[in-house]
Amino acid sequence: MRISSFEEYELAYKKSVDDPEGFWGEVAQNFEWRKPWTRVLDWNFDKPDIKWYVGGKLNITENALDRHVRERPNQPAIIWEPNEKDDDPVTLTYKVLHERVCRFANVLKNHGVVKGDRICIYMPMIPELAIAVLACARIGAIHSVVFGGFSAKSIADRVNDANCKMIITTDGAFRGNKRIAMKETVDDALIGCPTVEKVLVATRTRTPVSMIKGRDYWWEEETKKVSAECPATEMDSEDPLFILYTSGSTGKPKGVVHTTGGYMVYSAYSFQNVFQNNPGDVYFCTADIGWITGHSYIIYGPLVSGATSMMFEGVPTYPDAGRFWDIVERHKVNIFYTAPTAIRSLMGFGPEFWKDKDLSSLRVLGSVGEPINEEAWTWYNENIGKGNCTICDTWWQTETGGIMISPLANITPTKPTYAMLPLPGVQPMLVDEKGEEITGNAISGNLCIKFPWPSIIRTTWGDHERCKQVYFSAYPGNYFTGDGCIRDKDGYYRITGRVDDVINVSGHRIGTAEVEDALNSHTGVVESAVVGYPHEIKGQGIFAYIIMESQPHEPELTKKDILATVTRIIGPIAKPDQILFVSGLPKTRSGKIMRRILRKIAEGDVSSLGDTSTLLDPAVVEEIKAAAGIS
Ligand code: PRX
Repeated sequence: MRISSFEEYELAYKKSVDDPEGFWGEVAQNFEWRKPWTRVLDWNFDKPDIKWYVGGKLNITENALDRHVRERPNQPAIIWEPNEKDDDPVTLTYKVLHERVCRFANVLKNHGVVKGDRICIYMPMIPELAIAVLACARIGAIHSVVFGGFSAKSIADRVNDANCKMIITTDGAFRGNKRIAMKETVDDALIGCPTVEKVLVATRTRTPVSMIKGRDYWWEEETKKVSAECPATEMDSEDPLFILYTSGSTGKPKGVVHTTGGYMVYSAYSFQNVFQNNPGDVYFCTADIGWITGHSYIIYGPLVSGATSMMFEGVPTYPDAGRFWDIVERHKVNIFYTAPTAIRSLMGFGPEFWKDKDLSSLRVLGSVGEPINEEAWTWYNENIGKGNCTICDTWWQTETGGIMISPLANITPTKPTYAMLPLPGVQPMLVDEKGEEITGNAISGNLCIKFPWPSIIRTTWGDHERCKQVYFSAYPGNYFTGDGCIRDKDGYYRITGRVDDVINVSGHRIGTAEVEDALNSHTGVVESAVVGYPHEIKGQGIFAYIIMESQPHEPELTKKDILATVTRIIGPIAKPDQILFVSGLPKTRSGKIMRRILRKIAEGDVSSLGDTSTLLDPAVVEEIKAAAGIS
């Protein structure tokens, strides 16, 4: 179903609320099912137990590949732009992609992978990453992609949580002018991963790597041994398709589980309606496949829709800050989807990087991952869109599987910094602290969704109770997003940011508890508290307050050591931007850290610290202020 006017949007929205099963049943008719569903939806938000397209059988790759091999075999499915600007791009047509996926699926089968097995994928942005993901889906193996910037320990934690049987990786990666070891990091992880039997290694940098007999195999050699035909495994609509780990306020990252039928329907439905992709268009999402945006809007949404999806290996500033715009010019990109942090960083480099580039092919500009500030919105609109493109500020989450609140390109009105209106089928609700629904204009509220949509999280891998606690218990009967939100008098939504202890750094979700655990494992650290603070480029930065056993002799060197520990334990994205050594932390009498105060100090705004009389030791606040150089 493709909505093409605002009137149609309003009608579709009304139908989706009045008759959700009728609405979603109709949307799902646009896909190929081996066996139709018997019921569109079965749900209970208390348990939670949510099932879409009950009894339906399908394979998502038949929808993403086979169908298009019949209808458009020679159309590019993926256009890959390598790290080096002077290297040739690679185009994989639907026919070629289908062949390569089937061949690699046979490699997986040869190595004992069967339906339901969990496979960890740790790769850079090369076509083999998309092929590995789709090959898992082809045979019903559950992929768990781990972002290529995570540490060995993070890989091991994720592999062990899901008992992965295999890891698929590369020798190394090119990222800008850096060469990054991938297999070596996997080797470090493997020291603590007893369930992994096999490692498949694709070559990219041809960096020397250790290859252990009986465990490690080269991708290229293994694919030569198998045929290019691999029938797709029949999946139940509710069979898991993938696990993707994401950070929350407490504990370790949790494995968000998405299932086959509902995720397929929603990722494609949202892709088609938000971006209004037309036949022949080139669509470029700059995300990494290691995050949900890459899963839903580089691989599944576009490919199930038969679109042409670009994949970029490098970084926006290599060889210079005009790289995105060179790619747009070179491939005549029509739809471009990126994150505010990239926009803010590129804005700062000056007009010579964009003004002479031919960006006239662009029609739609998307934004995702964090709130977009007005300055960035306006710059994007004027300098990249030349005032002719719709800016789609798309709000969604790993757990929602697809875009929930966003303008539909050229259909919905837009307003800077606003994600505007929910997609048909999405029923947002704002609640106050007491859990009362706020109707009409709302100057602040917590964002919940009161009715299921097909790609809603089903569970957190291995720990269903956690899923219930985190998402379905704060406001019983509703899914709680963890985001704050306002709604203007016209009913337009603006997402203001997390209301829990999750920090959004450059559009990446980082849990304060995770960073604190990493900091606390550094020698000499007694205790730490981490908060977010406004950062000009990253949106939010990480501010760490640390109590040491004794005052470091060389504080700057100790800070660097601490950063190295965080990099080793989580990865460079979790490194604090600022570290302040303190002698105590503001705690209530029950021992709870008052982060509100720490946030204010990190912001440099101590004019309204609020009531500090309930603190165990109010003097500590003055000490911290003095250490931060604020009086
Ligand atoms: O706080 C919201 C923010 O990113 C969080 C979800 O992060 P993640 O699961 O990593 O997925 C990111 C890509 C979908 C949300 O809870 N967020 C995402 N998009 C927006 C946003 N905040 C404001 N505006 C957005 N458009």
